Amino acid sequence: MVAPLRVGIAGLGTVGADVVRLIARQERQLALRCGRPIRVVAVTARSRAKKRGLDLNGIRWLPTPLALARDPGIDCFVELMGGAGEPALSAVEAALRSGKSVVTANKALIAKHGTKLAMLAEKQGVALDFEAAVGAAIPVIKTLREGFSGNTFQRVYGILNGTCNYILTRMEQEGLSFADCLKDAQRLGYAEANPAFDIEGHDTAQKLAILASLAFGTKVNQGAVHVEGIASITPEDLKAAEDLGYRVKLLGVAVRSESGIEQRVHPTMVPRASSIAQVMGVTNAVTIDGDGLPPITLVGPGAGGHATASAIVADIADIARGVRVPPFGVPVARLRSITKAPMKHHGGGYYIRLLARDLPGTAATIAKRLAEQDISIESIVQRHLGPNPESARGKNVPVPVILITYATTEDAVRRALAAVQKDRVISGRPQVIRIEKN
Ligand SMILES: NC(=O)c1ccc[n+]([C@@H]2O[C@H](COP(=O)([O-])OP(=O)(O)OC[C@H]3O[C@@H](n4cnc5c(N)ncnc54)[C@H](OP(=O)(O)O)[C@@H]3O)[C@@H](O)[C@H]2O)c1
Repeated sequence: MVAPLRVGIAGLGTVGADVVRLIARQERQLALRCGRPIRVVAVTARSRAKKRGLDLNGIRWLPTPLALARDPGIDCFVELMGGAGEPALSAVEAALRSGKSVVTANKALIAKHGTKLAMLAEKQGVALDFEAAVGAAIPVIKTLREGFSGNTFQRVYGILNGTCNYILTRMEQEGLSFADCLKDAQRLGYAEANPAFDIEGHDTAQKLAILASLAFGTKVNQGAVHVEGIASITPEDLKAAEDLGYRVKLLGVAVRSESGIEQRVHPTMVPRASSIAQVMGVTNAVTIDGDGLPPITLVGPGAGGHATASAIVADIADIARGVRVPPFGVPVARLRSITKAPMKHHGGGYYIRLLARDLPGTAATIAKRLAEQDISIESIVQRHLGPNPESARGKNVPVPVILITYATTEDAVRRALAAVQKDRVISGRPQVIRIEKN
């Protein structure tokens, strides 16, 4: 009889409770697949008294996460509390130091302390697995780390935040404003009461930093990610995108470029026919662009107790089987440092929406300023002037003008638009959205 893998779980919330349930439900299957049983033997959470709808009979309750992490009766410590600070950090460090493998779903912890924790795991000869930290049920970490060991990556990008994708989907399909969709998302439980972390792109940035590290062999560095959120996107942008053959998504993109490895999170125009453009609502997706292969897109639920438990249990199963892979694919000593690639060098196509003032010479001035920066226009659309265009004409009512540029640089676009603003031929600030071709 092979000894069971004895698992201790810290955190019995949405994810932790479903992990306990999934291990119990799949007991026989897991023993068959791993060649040994997997047993949850000890747990902890903040409140012992809380009703969780879980059968914890025969499972020990430890007073603190640290006590659980150091408990000699467990082989594998599963951290499902969240947060980059305490108690998660100390508990994970203590578990690794005492020779236990660790599984976590904690993107904040891995994005901030991933390299340090990976070094500790390596030193101790134990596993540190975090499949659930990015894309929940989508096995993207394993795919990058093990499924493509023989490939070089050019680019990895994805829809990594279900809340933002839900909001953009509703805005596009129903012509609603960002504020209205956000309120609905909160009402339906898809957005937090304080949604800033999601809608400003920081959640996506943490996940992207982890993916970039795996794809490019770099030290995970969330501070090197350029981050913009979705609050400035309007239904007009989504309608214009549709008319021009695009869709707007909040993407996290990590790409090799001339100025280094760009890591950026921002609203992005993607071709309407691309796989990533088909991903609607709270679903997540990651596209892997490797050498000699067409881009491969993985799609699935990026949140929810059951979806996340699926990835956690797969990591635990790997530990039971004795699989030990460097957490970021290569030994920590070989991970390269990564700095922020300046966005002004970013190259690509751009969507620009301007409110052109209805004055003689406006179009010529805009065209001249773009030409001065060597920006070529792929398409240009002038929107109508509202319900009564004839009565508006000649009254200096601004006219929406939408431009799609051929590949240029961010610097050129910013300089051209600054000049156009100085010429006073447009009203307000121009809207600029980067285009990502597939
Ligand atoms: N929910 C998702 O869809 C999802 C998806 C992917 C990744 N994740 C990640 O999974 C982790 C857990 O998320 P969750 O949604 O399950 O969170 P949650 O529902 O808020 O559960 C957190 C659990 O941690 C316990 N806890 C918090 N602080 C503690 C402390 N100081 N000492 C002991 N226990 C403590 C809580 O105890 P009490 O129950 O007693 O309060 C609770 O059981 C996070 O890292 C999250 O980012 C979640």
